[in-house]
Amino acid sequence: MSFILPALPFPINALAARGMSQETLELHHGKHHNAYVTALNGLVDKNDALKGKTLEELIKLSYGKDTLQPVFNNAGQHWNHSTFWLSLAPDGGGIPGRLEKKLTEDFGSVDKFKETFKAAALGQFGSGWAWLVQGPTGKLQILKTSNAGTPLATGEGKVLLVLDVWEHAYYVDFRNRRPDFTDNFLNKLANYERAAAELEKS
Ligand SMILES: [Fe+2]
Repeated sequence: MSFILPALPFPINALAARGMSQETLELHHGKHHNAYVTALNGLVDKNDALKGKTLEELIKLSYGKDTLQPVFNNAGQHWNHSTFWLSLAPDGGGIPGRLEKKLTEDFGSVDKFKETFKAAALGQFGSGWAWLVQGPTGKLQILKTSNAGTPLATGEGKVLLVLDVWEHAYYVDFRNRRPDFTDNFLNKLANYERAAAELEKS
């Protein structure tokens, strides 16, 4: 069974009024994400040991193995992007009270959470991802990963929210201004409702 590009969970023009244009989504979802899915299917087709595995299994088994680096890169990028689309919402940016309480407990305040998340997004040199996860102790944490890196591989926590900080995520709308792209995500696009729902699954 081949992996498929998941449909966006909102119309392709639904985020345009809040800073993520249809053109960005056509390129990012339709071209970049799709290319990772196509490449992953090609790699699995050529390796019997990989056939029949779930995406999560492929990420975990290829993590840290030089010979399977292309598998990790494409599987990780497929999972990370699929999670990124779920981290966006046309009415995003509003933090439900139950999540606000937890953010305040673990970071000191919502502003401090945003400041820490932004520092991770900007501190990721080159391509990568910024994450809000619930760590193994139950405490919320901010992580950053490079390239296709993902907390799914390392077991560092359950992902609540993720931001793609590869240039292809923001160059059309924000040119080189990653700080503005990150602020826009945190204040206008982030799907905190889903983050709260994920938190409650624990
Ligand atoms: Fe991306």
